[in-house]
Amino acid sequence: MAPKPNPGDNRTRSSIQIFIVAGLCCFFYILGAWQRSGFGKADNLAMEITKNTGGDCNIISNLNFETHHGGEITSTDDSVSEKKVFKPCAPKYTDYTPCQDQRRAMTFPRDNMIYRERHCPPEEEKLHCLIPAPKGYVTPFPWPKSRDYVPYANAPYKSLTVEKAIQNWVQYEGNVFRFPGGGTQFPQGADKYIDQLASVIPIKNGTVRTLLDTGCGVASLGAYLWSRNVIAMSFAPRDSHEAQVQFALERGVPAVIGVLGTIKVPYPSRAFDMAHCSRCLIPWGANDGKYLMEVDRVLRPGGYWVLSGPPINWKVNYKAWQRPKEELQEEQRQIEEAAKMLCWEKKYEKGEIAIWQKRMDGDSCHSKQDESQVTFCKSSDPDDVWYVPLDLQLTNRQFESVKIYRSSLCI
Ligand SMILES: *[C@@H]1O[C@H](CO)[C@@H](O)[C@H](O)[C@H]1NC(C)=O
Repeated sequence: MAPKPNPGDNRTRSSIQIFIVAGLCCFFYILGAWQRSGFGKADNLAMEITKNTGGDCNIISNLNFETHHGGEITSTDDSVSEKKVFKPCAPKYTDYTPCQDQRRAMTFPRDNMIYRERHCPPEEEKLHCLIPAPKGYVTPFPWPKSRDYVPYANAPYKSLTVEKAIQNWVQYEGNVFRFPGGGTQFPQGADKYIDQLASVIPIKNGTVRTLLDTGCGVASLGAYLWSRNVIAMSFAPRDSHEAQVQFALERGVPAVIGVLGTIKVPYPSRAFDMAHCSRCLIPWGANDGKYLMEVDRVLRPGGYWVLSGPPINWKVNYKAWQRPKEELQEEQRQIEEAAKMLCWEKKYEKGEIAIWQKRMDGDSCHSKQDESQVTFCKSSDPDDVWYVPLDLQLTNRQFESVKIYRSSLCI
């Protein structure tokens, strides 16, 4: 006969159980909080990174998170009372961007877009006044309405609505501009265009989180990528009449005035999951592929490059583009060749869209290539980019390929 369970025993046992369950709860709660704090994770990640770079911490040794101003504004000493007050500039300066002044730009050569690069005024020409807002400036609409509407008074430039009238970029409607989400290359709207890209590039599952849009126009692509959890950095040069980027900023989309000319773009290497050009007018095939090398520098391994518009699909479109067939064919040949030199893999070409992918492990591709004409050049820091000429500094891996492609590159 089994011993009759003692009710007292039972009670002790269940209180022990409750104690254990409560204890476990506390333990996991604390563990969860600790993990969430990111403390353990970051440590592991840092260790992982250190391990993978062979313990070479030089790559990030010069990162500096200190502020780079002396706290002049908030300084607590008595000189605060003598704070300098700047007056507004004259109204004609509402559209003034110091380093992008149209008059100064025109004094620089047009080759390689030098005149559209940053040219800042010398000390004696610097304005010491506050740029006034355009007359009638109002607070921009809140997102998401700002994606589609910008008050006319905030960027009172109508030339685009005329120039791009048939391309569905921007329309002038009384006191607002409306952005229908179209582009030269996506008259059906940016969403449809993104869907097409997403059929090749895994945009949805977090593989693509950052994108560089070169020659972005009014940055509709960036505006429509927000809802897909992709942050786009868009740049475009200033036009002779105004900077289109200004519309992007009024829409609440990150953008800067910029151009791919003779100096590097101001972003660290491997910073983007994807780069994009739709009719961005950058001569990708020219100059032995150096513009593509710059894209290669900022793309992470496995990143994607999208080119839509000329010269892709030239066979069908050369007439509409009013350009000689042979010229377009040669342009595409140069692009394909440069992509091959960088060991990019062509993933897609349909209609006017072509997509390449940078290898996860470019080195394995290069080691297969012919090593007979090796020339050694001094390698350089791929993150040293501020005012650095495109030609001078290539990443180690690019040297690997360039020394084969163009063995006399070292200068
Ligand atoms: C996202 O999708 C692609 C393609 O299907 C796949 O290769 C990749 O591993 C996926 N990434 C994640 C984080 O799920």
